[in-house]
Amino acid sequence: MKVARCAAEMRSTLEEDRRAGRRIALVPTMGALHEGHLSLVELAAGNADVTIASVFVNPLQFGPNEDFDEYPRDEAGDLARLESAGVHLAFLPSTEEMYPQGADVTVHAGRLGAILEGVHRPGHFDGVLTVVAKLFNLVVPDTAVFGQKDAQQLAVIRKMVVDLKFLVDVISGPTVRGPDGLALSSRNAYLSVEARSRATALWRALQQGAARLEAGASHEDAERSVARALEGEPGIDPEYAAAVDPVTFDAPHPGGPVLLLVAAYVGKTRLIDNLLVEVRGTG
Ligand code: PAJ
Repeated sequence: MKVARCAAEMRSTLEEDRRAGRRIALVPTMGALHEGHLSLVELAAGNADVTIASVFVNPLQFGPNEDFDEYPRDEAGDLARLESAGVHLAFLPSTEEMYPQGADVTVHAGRLGAILEGVHRPGHFDGVLTVVAKLFNLVVPDTAVFGQKDAQQLAVIRKMVVDLKFLVDVISGPTVRGPDGLALSSRNAYLSVEARSRATALWRALQQGAARLEAGASHEDAERSVARALEGEPGIDPEYAAAVDPVTFDAPHPGGPVLLLVAAYVGKTRLIDNLLVEVRGTG
């Protein structure tokens, strides 16, 4: 595996592949890699000839009172994991490279960036889209792979690709969970053993909402059921529960797919999760 720490190095490493017309897939990450990230690497490898993973803890997507300083960093571990997952090139740009002094032009995420996560993390999706746009422009991948785990992020990135006419094919991979149902997340490293076991409430609440939908309940009813399930859990401080259309994040179409989403604090740790429910038609 090659490691590039600046764009020039990354580009020259890819020169030969590009000349040979090889398909390039990019998996953007913020590191502290787990099986969820590695499942995206595998998906990338199945859809391209050359797999690139980027590791960059993007300051622009963290709010002033968020966990940028504490965010887990493990460069040696990440490189070892990427190498054994078969990544061809790890791209680890510096903050100076991604945000040179004076850089202040950003991408605005629009309406999709202002709801749900956007309400609780103002500016978050502008930060995500700005760094993802820069990575797309630097790497020029044929394909980019993102996780369904961050469903709103995925929807906002897809919208950016359409609206700003990026020539990148975005594909997504399913959420990888622990045996207890908890979605893998770099932020799970913040959880004590007790908090980790409490955190499984998010997954249980989503499953409860899915069961309501499958029993024929309305999306409003499913949303209330998810919210109530979370409110009843000790040590959980819910921020929102929602049932939306997975693409537009508007109200779901009757009989169409419903995306259930939750965000909650478990102690001081903020976690998000979601579940896509394909409601079977009644006719
Ligand atoms: P990060 O949280 O490191 O996640 C990188 C990618 O891994 C994202 O596409 C995310 O959805 C996916 N992912 C995280 N947990 C997952 C799980 N349990 N199963 C499957 N996929 C999972 O998301 C970001 O970084 C950043 O916002 C980024 C897109 C890199 C921009 O800075």
